[in-house]
Amino acid sequence: MANGFARSKQEQTDWQPANADEYKQVLSIISPQLYPYVTEHAELSTLMDEVREGFDRDVYRTALDAIGEELEHHFRYEEEFILSKLANHIPTEEAGPIKKLKSEHQIIRDRHAEVSKLLGESPSEESDKELMQKMNLLAYLLKKHIEKEDHYFFPLVSLVLTEAEKDQIAVEIAAENRHSDK
Ligand SMILES: [Fe+2]
Ligand SMILES: [Fe+2]
Repeated sequence: MANGFARSKQEQTDWQPANADEYKQVLSIISPQLYPYVTEHAELSTLMDEVREGFDRDVYRTALDAIGEELEHHFRYEEEFILSKLANHIPTEEAGPIKKLKSEHQIIRDRHAEVSKLLGESPSEESDKELMQKMNLLAYLLKKHIEKEDHYFFPLVSLVLTEAEKDQIAVEIAAENRHSDK
């Protein structure tokens, strides 16, 4: 199956592969307590580059599993640990970063459920085409979400939250990780 046809024009021109030098620069403008989030972004971003290489059910399955895992943990930790503290400084969820970040998470959750369902259906030329299209769109949405968080959200959150709030986030992540290691 040709690689390009299942993508919109924007998806074709707007893709930036994971870049180690840029990643280092990003870390230099983010507080260390928030590094676990950015590290997970880098892994996920590389996986989305693989999805983009072409139609491959095994790669799609691995990617969907990894995204599913992130929805359970990473997305939830952002909402519960970071957004709850950002609300001390941005006192509305009617507009602004808290609202938009949550709504992007919901869009990605919905898309993930949709693509996972498609992957479970029996293969046919028609359904493979739809699967590829929707998988590519999910990868694109996630890639853009990660870019937004790495380049805007986390650098700004690093400046806005107090040191005590950021320390608390590190404690909360560590506690969850200990819990899930059991
Ligand atoms: Fe996120
Ligand atoms: Fe994230």
